Amino acid sequence: MKDTIFRITENKRIAKNVYKMTLAGDVSDIKNPGEFINLRLDGFYLRRPISVYDLGEDCVTIIYKVVGKGTASMSGMVVGETLQVLTGLGNGYDLSLSGERPLLIGGGVGVPPMYLLAKRLLAQGKEVSVILGFNTADEVFGEEAFRAIGCKVTVTTVDGSRGVKGFVTDALPENYTYFYTCGPEPMLKAVYRATNTSGQFSFEERMGCGFGACMGCSCKTVTGYKRICKDGPVLRKEEILWES
Ligand SMILES: Cc1cc2nc3c(=O)[nH]c(=O)nc-3n(C[C@H](O)[C@H](O)[C@H](O)COP(=O)(O)OP(=O)(O)OC[C@H]3O[C@@H](n4cnc5c(N)ncnc54)[C@H](O)[C@@H]3O)c2cc1C
Ligand code: FES
Repeated sequence: MKDTIFRITENKRIAKNVYKMTLAGDVSDIKNPGEFINLRLDGFYLRRPISVYDLGEDCVTIIYKVVGKGTASMSGMVVGETLQVLTGLGNGYDLSLSGERPLLIGGGVGVPPMYLLAKRLLAQGKEVSVILGFNTADEVFGEEAFRAIGCKVTVTTVDGSRGVKGFVTDALPENYTYFYTCGPEPMLKAVYRATNTSGQFSFEERMGCGFGACMGCSCKTVTGYKRICKDGPVLRKEEILWES
């Protein structure tokens, strides 16, 4: 884990209330897709956790949705401004279990961690299918980016204004060897029920410290309590106990 200063090199709107930000700095502690970074914002006590979308030699890219004051302040930041960032957080996805035809399922702001994961799986020669779920067409992002690296992409929207009408679970293919998913909890529960293979789930719980010290993010699993920030955010399907 490292706490260093990053400089913003890009911060642009890519969909309704959704922004893509690239930060240049020391990324040596970021290893696995599914990890997150924790941003210190002026005027806010708690840092804001955001998943790693893409990783370069000296930069990390995130995609975030404006939902409150912290993310609104991020959307107003400009190129050249700096941010203090904790890197190397979370366990990330385990690629070794993917099989030959992994399925990646992202919903809304659960889409970003799927991108670096897809890149790494494709680099291993896997055939990667991706389902990207949104409410409506003006919220859709990432479709071209995933297609450009070689994924088979399906977009779903709840209102049918783009792609398949319905939820991500309405577009599950027949043939996949394993799955990886991230999104809002109702979607994760639906994916848990609708999938017929094992898989890994990434949880975007509310967090306190973000690095294992406060227990503010602990959740019950079949092997006892786990801290989503430190022992997660990725849990295997077999470990999950839904509380309600
Ligand atoms: C491991 C992890 C990875 C994440 N990755 C991303 C990402 O890639 N892109 C992205 O846009 N967001 C991501 N999030 C969620 C992001 O951290 C929150 O949206 C952000 O902290 C909200 O800050 P805010 O000050 O704008 O909103 P706040 O003022 O803190 O909250 C505004 C509203 O959003 C709700 N909210 C805040 N945080 C969460 C949360 N974690 N889950 C559900 N509802 C929440 C609040 O209950 C409130 O209704 C991630 C969260 C975690 C824990
Ligand atoms: S947020 Fe503090 S232990 Fe997870």
